[in-house]
Amino acid sequence: MQAINASIGVDRALWRQDIAGSRAHAAMLAHVGIISPADQAAIDAGLAGIGAEIADGSFAFSEALEDIHMNIEARLAERAGDAGRRLHTARSRNDQVATDFRLWVRDAIDAAQAQLADLMLALASRAAEHACTVMPGFTHLQTAQPVTFGHHLLAYVEMFARDRGRFGDCRQRLNECPLGSAALAGTSFPIDRDMTAAALGFDRPTANSLDAVSDRDFALEYLSAAAICAVHLSRFAEEVVIWCSAPYGFLRLSDAFTTGSSIMPQKRNPDAAELTRGKTGRVVGALVALLTVMKGLPMAYAKDMQEDKEPVFDATAALGLSLAATAGMVRDVQPDTARMRAAAGAGFSTATDLADWLVRALGLPFRAAHHVTGRLVARAEAKGVGLEQLSLAEMREEEPGITAELFGVLGVDASVASRTSFGGTAPDRVAAQAARWLAALA
Ligand code: ARG
Repeated sequence: MQAINASIGVDRALWRQDIAGSRAHAAMLAHVGIISPADQAAIDAGLAGIGAEIADGSFAFSEALEDIHMNIEARLAERAGDAGRRLHTARSRNDQVATDFRLWVRDAIDAAQAQLADLMLALASRAAEHACTVMPGFTHLQTAQPVTFGHHLLAYVEMFARDRGRFGDCRQRLNECPLGSAALAGTSFPIDRDMTAAALGFDRPTANSLDAVSDRDFALEYLSAAAICAVHLSRFAEEVVIWCSAPYGFLRLSDAFTTGSSIMPQKRNPDAAELTRGKTGRVVGALVALLTVMKGLPMAYAKDMQEDKEPVFDATAALGLSLAATAGMVRDVQPDTARMRAAAGAGFSTATDLADWLVRALGLPFRAAHHVTGRLVARAEAKGVGLEQLSLAEMREEEPGITAELFGVLGVDASVASRTSFGGTAPDRVAAQAARWLAALA
């Protein structure tokens, strides 16, 4: 029973939040006259001392005492006697753990948001640096149209900005204090829940005691935001892995973010990117695990909910490492701009520019222009050359109206420079977006 029942091995991580919650609770109990000022002083000093013991590693955690709440409370009774035994008046471990866990998740959200801001700053700085660096843009991982490397990086800034927004939304809804809900029904003691809520930085107390002790949707929302963020990190990591490979050769990471092979001396493996991609499994798994724990639980508290912490702690560690590694790689990575440029022009990437020119200069309907372009691509492909290497005469065999001016739109620089629509890849647009983000993040 002890082996399955004890959670101290996991929930000891809540010790700071548990002590903060208990100190706020004791101050409130004294304020409304439920305990004496002398008892509160003894409780407060005792809890401060216990905090110091845990911080310096001298605290003896006991599995027989089940969880962090009972471990701290038992030690408080040793240190403060009956005053310590009065602390648990007008509360239960059910509202206590719900409060501790909200405080912990709130800190985790703040940490994730700070790390996201740092990552976005790194991406926006590199984007400003590479506003004019052309590379192939892909759909279906097939060369589609030239884009700039800066534009590509800023796409991730947008994703990570939404991730920050999701964490922020979650924090706002999370920030209500369960303390004082007691076991499930509230308490007959004349407690002041506004006081404890304010002391712990919550916006207000929760309005329904059953809900407060029995739901974990704040943790589910946090894990949902974390899972989406991890998927974004994983997509970026995947691109780093592909682009660092020899056949692509777009990027090079230094030794700081790669490892060598024990047998193949030429290897420079992008392990940090691969692990970021791999750790996504933990984060997504944590969300699914907690959803599954909560599904079908009748109100109010059930011990199943003790299984809420491990996935949240594990996902938080995985996300923190992934965010740090990604920001590090973004700052470290060196693009091979010559290779990117060469690849940008391959694969008939400016075929759309050709079709657009036929529409603009000759007034062809887009579908007709698309057809002519397809025939020109087929000719070039059959000859094994690029579009710009077809002669004007060959072009005119497909469309007599074509003039030499067409060759001006077939280069990759002209192509990206022409994409001036808002949100487009034109270097001026990219530079402006990078500057906007850099200013917003400063
Ligand atoms: N360790 C428990 C948890 O994490 C604390 C709450 C226990 N409450 C109870 N009624 N047994 O959920």
